[in-house]
Amino acid sequence: MNKAIRKYLIAGNWKMNKTASEAEDLVKDIHQSVGQQTEVGVCICPPFTALETSARLLEGSNIQLGAQNMYPKAEGAYTGEVSPVMLRSLFCTFVILGHSERREYFGETDAFINEKVLASFESSLKPILCVGEKLEEREAEKTLEVVREQLEGGLKDVTSEQAENLVVAYEPVWAIGTGKTATPEMAQEVHAVIRSWLVERFGETVAHKIRILYGGSMKPANAEELLAQPDIDGGLIGGASLQAKSFIELVNLAKQA
Ligand code: PGA
Repeated sequence: MNKAIRKYLIAGNWKMNKTASEAEDLVKDIHQSVGQQTEVGVCICPPFTALETSARLLEGSNIQLGAQNMYPKAEGAYTGEVSPVMLRSLFCTFVILGHSERREYFGETDAFINEKVLASFESSLKPILCVGEKLEEREAEKTLEVVREQLEGGLKDVTSEQAENLVVAYEPVWAIGTGKTATPEMAQEVHAVIRSWLVERFGETVAHKIRILYGGSMKPANAEELLAQPDIDGGLIGGASLQAKSFIELVNLAKQA
């Protein structure tokens, strides 16, 4: 089926960078350059502490806001956590879930990530579910097995109707923040397997609407080739989303892809 039914999505994952006042400058620059175009979906995911400032500055633009994590309950005694309801109240559209840094440093399991995915849908947030193998898993030729297992676990009990609002990000762990990118062919191979899994699980029509982003050292110099692949529908951008220039360039490259 034709890739043209999916609009590219360029999502910036700022991770634990930028204070609220630093965020202001970056958001203003991004807004000014690509805030009105509609050809490419653009989303920025600042830290929680910069969401409110960003939401205010993005009002009236076509740039959407996302969070980098959430707790899977609406409210309650969960010291230090942030709920999907709170994120909605700050005009978040997306939430990144299951990022490899959360899996690695905070022990998040597929079952816990699944709770979050289900809770995000409950609150009408669109999850960007991250999957991807570690270096040793790739070397042991376990990439596809690992990715399938993460999809299986993370998307348990998700309905086809909910899946229409799902975004998947394939992020090989060895490529994140390392400057090493998967070759376009390596990435496409995994993206195609993810697409087949989605077809099996949610049916052809829904699976072809789901965007699968590539993440892992994506930057203007390598984006064109990656975005040209039949099952790569955009990028989840870490390092290169922290400067307006490179992020805007990535949006423009997606426009031309
Ligand atoms: P990177 O991060 O672009 O800095 O590799 C991507 C991510 O972790 O989402």
